[in-house]
Amino acid sequence: MMNQEPLYEGKAKRLFKMENEDFLLVEYKDQATAFNAAKKESIKGKGKYNNEISSIIFTMLKDIGVDNHFIMQVSETEQIVTKTSIIPIEVVVRNVYAGSLAARLGKEEGTVIPKPIVEFYYKDDALGDPLINEDHIEILQLATKKELEEIREKALFVNNFLKDYFASCGIRLIDFKLEFGKNNENNIILADEISPDTCRLWDMDTNERLDKDVFRKDTGSLIGAYDKVLTRLKGEKTWL
Ligand code: C5P
Repeated sequence: MMNQEPLYEGKAKRLFKMENEDFLLVEYKDQATAFNAAKKESIKGKGKYNNEISSIIFTMLKDIGVDNHFIMQVSETEQIVTKTSIIPIEVVVRNVYAGSLAARLGKEEGTVIPKPIVEFYYKDDALGDPLINEDHIEILQLATKKELEEIREKALFVNNFLKDYFASCGIRLIDFKLEFGKNNENNIILADEISPDTCRLWDMDTNERLDKDVFRKDTGSLIGAYDKVLTRLKGEKTWL
């Protein structure tokens, strides 16, 4: 663990400055939060699972040409990333009705959506991350139309790849959230994390929940679920 004050501390991660100012050290914490941090718990080992799972996924995405902030994993709970200026939009891609969309549209959880839905949420804890559309994004000047189109295309590309990849590990990718940032060349690159904290992952055969819904709904062991995801990611190499 770094022996200095974090530059920023979020709900699940701490960011530390590095000697080279182009990079940041990210430490994944053991803290689990849900419902905009109304539910909070420290779960030993959680940071390690998310750091390892996100490192594997970002490495694969880099290998297939999706520019992202990941540089390298440096310890069980830490990774080095390129510093970006985060675009305050949470991009959610959904393949199957679940969570807030199932509730909003009155659909049964688990119903397949005929084509992926991309949603945008304004990344603002004080406002509870409200759902926004292209017009809101333009008016709030969060991104230009062109940038948003690029973000949408990248999100759908990541979805296509990850859906097939998880399927090869016996996991259904129900939905997930992405964040993008601008690097110092002003290019939009994928940032933040992709882990069972930010994805809904269901066992292909049993529909067992292998993601943070286990914690949100108190239905079992979060570590048990995350361990199954990591074990399957490490076991399969069919994307190569
Ligand atoms: O809650 P909701 O159904 O809108 O979440 C959609 C997806 O986005 C889920 O996979 C959830 O884990 C993820 N998400 C997230 N961070 C948020 C909100 C949602 O990772 N702040």
